Amino acid sequence: MYSGWNVYRRLLGYVKTAKTAFVLALLGNIVYAAASALMAPAMKVVFAAIETPSADYRIMVPLLIIGVFALRGLGSFLGAYYMANVARVIVHTMRTQLFDKMTRLPCSFYDANSTGHLVSRLTFTVEQVAGAATRAVTVVIRQGFTVIGLVGYMFYENWRLTLVFLAVGPIIGVVVGYVTKRFRRLSRRIQNSMGDVTHVASEAFNGYRVMRTFGGEHHEINRFNDASQRNVEQNLKLSLTQAISTPVIQILVALAIAVLVWLALAPQVLQGMTPGAFVAFIVAASTCAKPVRDLSEINAIIQKGIAASQDAFTQLQEPDEADTGTFRVDRSQGEIRIEKLSFTYPGANQPVLSDINLTINAGETVAFVGRSGSGKSTITSLIPRFYDYSEGEIYLDAVPLKDYSLGSLRQQISLVTQQVTLFNDTVTNNIAYGGLAGADPKEVREVAAAADALGFIEKLEKGFDTQLGDNGVLLSGGQRQRLAIARALLKDAPVLILDEATSALDTHAERSIQAALERLMEGRTTIVIAHRLSTIEKADKIVVLDQGHIVEMGTHAELMAKNGAYSALHRLQFAEGDAL
Ligand SMILES: Nc1ncnc2c1ncn2[C@@H]1O[C@H](COP(=O)(O)OP(=O)(O)OP(=O)(O)O)[C@@H](O)[C@H]1O
Ligand SMILES: [Mg+2]
Repeated sequence: MYSGWNVYRRLLGYVKTAKTAFVLALLGNIVYAAASALMAPAMKVVFAAIETPSADYRIMVPLLIIGVFALRGLGSFLGAYYMANVARVIVHTMRTQLFDKMTRLPCSFYDANSTGHLVSRLTFTVEQVAGAATRAVTVVIRQGFTVIGLVGYMFYENWRLTLVFLAVGPIIGVVVGYVTKRFRRLSRRIQNSMGDVTHVASEAFNGYRVMRTFGGEHHEINRFNDASQRNVEQNLKLSLTQAISTPVIQILVALAIAVLVWLALAPQVLQGMTPGAFVAFIVAASTCAKPVRDLSEINAIIQKGIAASQDAFTQLQEPDEADTGTFRVDRSQGEIRIEKLSFTYPGANQPVLSDINLTINAGETVAFVGRSGSGKSTITSLIPRFYDYSEGEIYLDAVPLKDYSLGSLRQQISLVTQQVTLFNDTVTNNIAYGGLAGADPKEVREVAAAADALGFIEKLEKGFDTQLGDNGVLLSGGQRQRLAIARALLKDAPVLILDEATSALDTHAERSIQAALERLMEGRTTIVIAHRLSTIEKADKIVVLDQGHIVEMGTHAELMAKNGAYSALHRLQFAEGDAL
């Protein structure tokens, strides 16, 4: 965890990108502070003018008043506007850095962090940092310099009395120190509870239908209520600490001023000072009260900012997805060899795959079958290296996967998974996504036709230009799958992975795609996972998995003849099929 001081140093790094604005803001705040502190000596001049009125004073005093306020106004403008600039730069830089980082973090990071917390980090947490950067820096510099200026003037007038006044400093220090620690702890809890709020809300929005049909409204309302309530409690605790600490510090300052006045009124002290100097001195001392209060109040914002920065920096420090391989290939042959592979998910204690040995020749189609949870999808997510295996090895064209650069490796793979992801964009842009962007519209049309998607796309209001809505809500499950297949077709990669790619299609649609898929599989290494065994009978090799082990391997005919696990699965499904 970053200490407060390190956080400042790192934040300063962000400020560098807005150096000019920051310098202007600092200058503005210093001018503001100087003008504020000048008010006390100005009082001395006013007093002198009252005691010995003259024509000169009549001109000078009003000019002095205007001058001091004009200076303060200029300082205030520069400080406020340019500091806001700095804050926005920090928010923008930090937010884009966090987002960039999110695109580079490994799958295991996403398994461990909820979307709600990640979103809240990009919105709420980053704003806390900005708050600390603008309001806090402004107040610290303005009021800090004001106090320094005032105390400096007091020293000039009467250093002994000033020392008495400053004796209250250490006591204030102790109070602020205690409050600071508490603020930071509470701020961290506020951040987490904000993450919880976003998390519960996004879950409820995504699971809208489940919530409605299973009568989960009450449960979700309670969950949301609890999360929001926790947020309220932590915020109130913070406010309470702040509300108590401010008057306590105020009273300490008042006590110091009281002692000061008591001492100052002693005849021997009074004799040494003019009435004007005395009043200016007391004005300076009591003017200190407001900046000191502001400084103690801003502490809450600073601590929120530090806790928020710590959170953001921790994510920025997460290790990237390992990408140390340098091997690049334009188009691989597509031979995949898996040797003695075992795999355990990060944080799990049971291996999901054990001792897998399998060779898939270039251009072959291999089907994985097996019960739910037997590890079929896991194997397919190891090939694009979504997770890193530690035991055994997978080779693509005889080169270990880890030796490939991630970009080059993933370029070789087209993937259609169990969960189709569509973006809120046009049909065309969903098919020609990412590296495929800008593809020839004619080609997009061809792949859509091959994926049996042309029919429904043309019926959409704007055809290929129709916006699909959040994750393609406007489409049926089967239509979504056909778009995903079209996307994979367009990519035209040497390795094709179809994980239940046609599970949402009816038998009729599946058949019409089947022909297209078979054409696609030609000359390509294909891994198919399908629940409907009828779709994989033609595979060159069928691999039966059970609890992470390969229990059988062979062609459909061989495995049927063997009368083992596969033929049992087959019989079962046909019995089911009869029942349907
Ligand atoms: N991200 C993950 N973190 C930890 N464990 C996981 C993760 N994903 C899957 N598992 C576990 O790994 C095992 C195998 O999952 P996998 O998704 O590979 O099964 P599958 O054969 O594809 O099943 P299905 O036919 O239901 O899709 C399961 O027991 C599951 O609990
Ligand atoms: Mg699966």
